[in-house]
Amino acid sequence: MSALTRLTGWVDQRFPLTSAWKAHVSEYYAPKNLNFWYFFGSLAMLVLVIQIVTGIFLTMNYKPDGALAFASVEYIMRDVNWGWLIRYMHSTGASMFFVVIYLHLMRGLLYGSYRKPRELVWIFGMFIYLALMAEAFMGYLLPWGQMSYWGAQVIISLFGAIPVIGNDLSLWIRGDYVVSDATLNRFFALHVIALPLVLLALVGAHLVALHQVGSNNPDGVEIKKHKDPRTGIPLDGIPFHPYYTVKDIMGAVAFLIVFFGIVFFYPTMGGWFLEDNNFIPSDALKTPMHIAPVWYFTPFYAILRAVPDKFLGVVAMGLSIAVFFLLPWLDRAKVKSIRYRGALYKAILALFVVSFLGLGYLGTQPPTEARTLAARIFAVIYFGFFVLMPLYTKLDRTKPEPERVTK
Ligand code: HEM
Repeated sequence: MSALTRLTGWVDQRFPLTSAWKAHVSEYYAPKNLNFWYFFGSLAMLVLVIQIVTGIFLTMNYKPDGALAFASVEYIMRDVNWGWLIRYMHSTGASMFFVVIYLHLMRGLLYGSYRKPRELVWIFGMFIYLALMAEAFMGYLLPWGQMSYWGAQVIISLFGAIPVIGNDLSLWIRGDYVVSDATLNRFFALHVIALPLVLLALVGAHLVALHQVGSNNPDGVEIKKHKDPRTGIPLDGIPFHPYYTVKDIMGAVAFLIVFFGIVFFYPTMGGWFLEDNNFIPSDALKTPMHIAPVWYFTPFYAILRAVPDKFLGVVAMGLSIAVFFLLPWLDRAKVKSIRYRGALYKAILALFVVSFLGLGYLGTQPPTEARTLAARIFAVIYFGFFVLMPLYTKLDRTKPEPERVTK
């Protein structure tokens, strides 16, 4: 018996190492037809690790103090060895996290991955999305530039629109009458420890729920329905390791080429990843001409601005995110995957994607009458997608789903 076998034997008697590896990796059977869209779950984990590791190193030199924060970031960029690389990896990672998550979510919409029995996988995913939004919002305050400051000012003051408790609530969040050192300190604490812990716990729950039911796939058929009677292994399943570990490494390499291309050659992404105004230190007495959140928040920001009343705008914005939670119960189609849906659903999904992107663009632009009108039309389509879903998914002429996965 080799030393390694003896060591793992010793560990296994005290800790379920081999059995966990088998259950979740080497004998976890995933559908054999997972495609491009299935890269983004493992990529989201990769970006989460990049953010945590670069975040730890940034924290070593960053100063969460209203008088020092901006200069400490410049110090990291210019004087700390490799500081520029760590900072640009972290800022690029924030935007790329949302790129990956939006594609991951899109896969869910395409293949009906939120449907029974994966409702909890979806719900945990939505909580991850909320936590990620909070994490990104708080992180954005830390460089203490003009956009950090005024972006936070605008968003926190939205809570003031809530009747009765609004003003006290925004005061409580800021810890002051305006965004100040107190706000910076608490956002730092939440950004570097509280929310990352929540995120890690939620990702754990997301994966446990996924492994309980097994992955969906581009055909939307349940592979557990057809098992080898002798071994109990799904006929259309292949072991996650080595098949998908190798495939996911290939996806990770392709992703990292793009990621480092941005980090090395275009870290501001022309103002989309790092806004020009944020290279100016925050000034509580000078409001920038045009304040807009970073691109990943702008669809919801456009919905907020499309509603004339401030409070109702805040409600609409909240609802535009909350409706996603209901998706598993709104979809009444007989099939899960887009492959077997009819023209009606395909057209409506395409309209929804166009309106989401349209809102995203409009949210970055200063409002004009024409833009507000466009945002209202897109917002109606956006909500129509969810509200009318029980109806059009029933009316849609679907094709019969195959018994087994196709390719
Ligand atoms: C930090 C963020 C996240 C991480 C690390 C993560 C990780 C993963 C991983 C590794 C998988 C399995 C591989 C794959 O199917 O791609 C997965 C599946 C899934 N995730 Fe996420 N996820 C995250 C966020 C989300 C969000 C925001 C949603 C949407 C609400 C979501 C919904 C789903 C669904 C529905 C599946 C099952 C897909 C299927 O089997 O077809 N996830 N996730």
